[in-house]
Amino acid sequence: MGIFSVAFGVLLVSILTWVHVVSGIGANWGTQATHQLPPDTVVRLLWENGIQKVKLFDASYDTLKALGKYEIEVMVGIPNDMLASMASSMKAAEKWVDKNVSTHMTTNNVNIRYVAVGNEPFLQTYNGSFLRITFPALQNIQSALIKAGIANKVKVTVPLNADVYASSNTLPSGGDFRADIRDFMIQIVKFLNDNGSPFTVNIYPFISLYTDSNFPVEYAFFDGNASPVNDGGTSYYNMFDANYDTLVWALQKNGFGNMPILVGEIGWPTDGDQNANLLYAQRFNQGFMSHISGGKGTPMRPAPIDAYLFSLIDEDGKSIEPGSFERHWGIFTFDGLPKYVLNLGTTNSGSLVPARNVHYLERKWCVLKESANLTDPQLGLSVTYACERADCTSLGYRSSCGNLATQGNISYAFNSYYQTYNQLEDACKFSGLSTVTKADPSDGTCRFAIGIQPYYAGADHRFGCIQKTMVGLFLFLVTIL
Ligand SMILES: *[C@@H]1O[C@H](CO)[C@@H](O)[C@H](O)[C@H]1NC(C)=O
Ligand SMILES: *[C@@H]1O[C@H](CO)[C@@H](O)[C@H](O)[C@H]1NC(C)=O
Ligand SMILES: *[C@@H]1O[C@H](CO)[C@@H](O)[C@H](O)[C@H]1NC(C)=O
Ligand SMILES: *[C@@H]1O[C@H](CO)[C@@H](O)[C@H](O)[C@H]1NC(C)=O
Repeated sequence: MGIFSVAFGVLLVSILTWVHVVSGIGANWGTQATHQLPPDTVVRLLWENGIQKVKLFDASYDTLKALGKYEIEVMVGIPNDMLASMASSMKAAEKWVDKNVSTHMTTNNVNIRYVAVGNEPFLQTYNGSFLRITFPALQNIQSALIKAGIANKVKVTVPLNADVYASSNTLPSGGDFRADIRDFMIQIVKFLNDNGSPFTVNIYPFISLYTDSNFPVEYAFFDGNASPVNDGGTSYYNMFDANYDTLVWALQKNGFGNMPILVGEIGWPTDGDQNANLLYAQRFNQGFMSHISGGKGTPMRPAPIDAYLFSLIDEDGKSIEPGSFERHWGIFTFDGLPKYVLNLGTTNSGSLVPARNVHYLERKWCVLKESANLTDPQLGLSVTYACERADCTSLGYRSSCGNLATQGNISYAFNSYYQTYNQLEDACKFSGLSTVTKADPSDGTCRFAIGIQPYYAGADHRFGCIQKTMVGLFLFLVTIL
């Protein structure tokens, strides 16, 4: 091999690497945590892990400002509870675009590429509440983008759950939009298509496994030995491909066969259910990364897949109505530690890089006193009280702290409350049953965390947080004393 071909090889590798980095993997950055890492810390975390695209659920000022410091591509979001005002008032839509998009692009150098109008607004659990307002909101935001002169760069989209389509014969080729929302879907898809916008879909093999006990586990993964599903001669070896292609078929049948698709959310939780663990999460996410890394796509769409992992960081403030796993989707813990080895193909080490300069509270924990009487009726009440206000989702059956004995179980609840309430002295006074210790009570897979210092976004938010703490403490004193 001559010097020239070596040089050419190096050049080719650099070009390929460069192409890979630019198209790369994205991540969802949700902020429903009682304690958030400061935006600058998270943005640096994204950057150091080579995650160059981020999807947000709102448009917090500090978050966007921080993202402008690096060239990270952004999808900003309009929460469902703002859809009504966006739908009914062009002025409101213009103001939203001006304040939450245009200003950030011009003054903070933020690379905003998409506006997500609503978040899974057609979910069946919403009983159709957003069915009639999503489209007018989408139209108004698009008009506002045009008026602001940024519609060429910033595209609207509506992140939808994969439950907006279904298959008549369980095969991808039977795919079409769900009958009860078909007209609403066609209206939206046509509008997106006319404006050069992508269809955004969230695909969750984990939820299929969670809700259907007959779902073949192996089919949820990419390296599984599930027996393939045969669709007219095409073999499907994993649920992701089959689900994605069901959408491709649905789009194609309705005349939108070339519409670009974004996978808005994909991932696997690590705790809070028997199938939510580190092993499965690693297997799924690494499998997905390998699956899309060659750019070969799915049988119906043999092209690179554009996707955002769900999620970047755990959120202990999320509703657990869908299940205890809901607070454990992060590839990082709440304090920015990688949960498992995941090679995104973007770091030199081939694994995730932890967050830097995380400010923890003191190294101490709140636990059950050794002398406590386990039949004391206050005990159960205290645990319930703590768990309702903090996070006990790791204590469930086959979860990371599910094997603790009674004492450990109670201590876990006490500590979760204590850290959530910033280690305030009064937050470890459970009817004289608790005490503060400097010895780490963590046990095997069960981590007794130390909280991080609260981050306050701005004056309004700060007031809200302190207020919340005060109310919490007040209720606490009323109940316990
Ligand atoms: C901008 O977005 C934030 C966060 O979602 C929201 O609270 C605010 O009302 C928006 N601004 C306007 C003018 O709509
Ligand atoms: C949807 O309807 C069910 C049953 O009527 C009800 O229990 C639930 O609260 C409703 N949900 C919403 C978001 O309106
Ligand atoms: C523990 O508490 C129960 C109920 O309050 C009480 O009957 C029992 O005597 C206590 N045991 C000890 C060892 O104090
Ligand atoms: C531990 O706590 C959880 C949540 O409060 C509860 O469901 C579980 O039964 C407890 N387990 C033991 C061994 O006490």
